[in-house]
Amino acid sequence: MLRYISFTVDGATIRTPQGTSVLDAALDQGICIPALCHMRGVEDIGVCRLCLVEVVRNGRSRVTTSCTLEATEGMEVLAHSPLILKLRRNVAELLVAEAPNSRAIQDIAARCGVTTVRYPFHHADCVLCGRCVRICSEMWRAGALGFVGRGAERRVALPFNERPEYCKRCYSCIDVCPMTIAPCAGPMAVGEEYLCAKCASQLTMTARMPDSCVWCGLGKGFGCARQTPAARTRERARVR
Ligand code: SF4
Ligand code: SF4
Ligand code: FES
Repeated sequence: MLRYISFTVDGATIRTPQGTSVLDAALDQGICIPALCHMRGVEDIGVCRLCLVEVVRNGRSRVTTSCTLEATEGMEVLAHSPLILKLRRNVAELLVAEAPNSRAIQDIAARCGVTTVRYPFHHADCVLCGRCVRICSEMWRAGALGFVGRGAERRVALPFNERPEYCKRCYSCIDVCPMTIAPCAGPMAVGEEYLCAKCASQLTMTARMPDSCVWCGLGKGFGCARQTPAARTRERARVR
């Protein structure tokens, strides 16, 4: 029998089936917690650290990733406390520095309040979020991709660097990769790293839900809470 539990996120009570993660339960209620490595229906590995929250207990709090945290009865979660916003902004900034050519990452960073990046740009091809690996193994049951190497050598690879016969050619690995959406001006050249901030996909974007944001699947449908009041009014008028 399905059991439900109640807990709070930023003071709002949420009732959710037992076994649900804090992140999924919050997203189901339209509470936006940024996430990059999380995908519904596949196991969470908690690597991007964007979904950090504070869990308060007996007056003390601890910071943890909400995608890997099961919601339990009476749990008190802070998803937008000053500490969390600061930590999250830093995580987002590091992600942009790692992969400035990803529009999805720029969009998420914008929504975390990042306006400038203090770290050197690395132009990585992959941020090791594991979305491709997990969708391949868990959704398509193909197991054609995997992580190899450790530390700085860690990367996603095909077995023997060749597409195996058992690859189903579904191309889901490409669809879910945050690196496959380039900013409008195209990939940045090394030595010319700047974020132009001229359009909605860039770092000063605050007005509307960007097309490439992978923060959650709900922003458009629910009228994302991170929209500016003016953008929300425009959206409501358009829907009417
Ligand atoms: S295209 Fe091949 S490697 Fe990519 S997700 Fe599908 S089965 Fe896996
Ligand atoms: S290739 Fe893309 S989806 Fe796969 S781990 Fe790297 S950034 Fe993530
Ligand atoms: S660590 Fe939770 S979504 Fe990436």
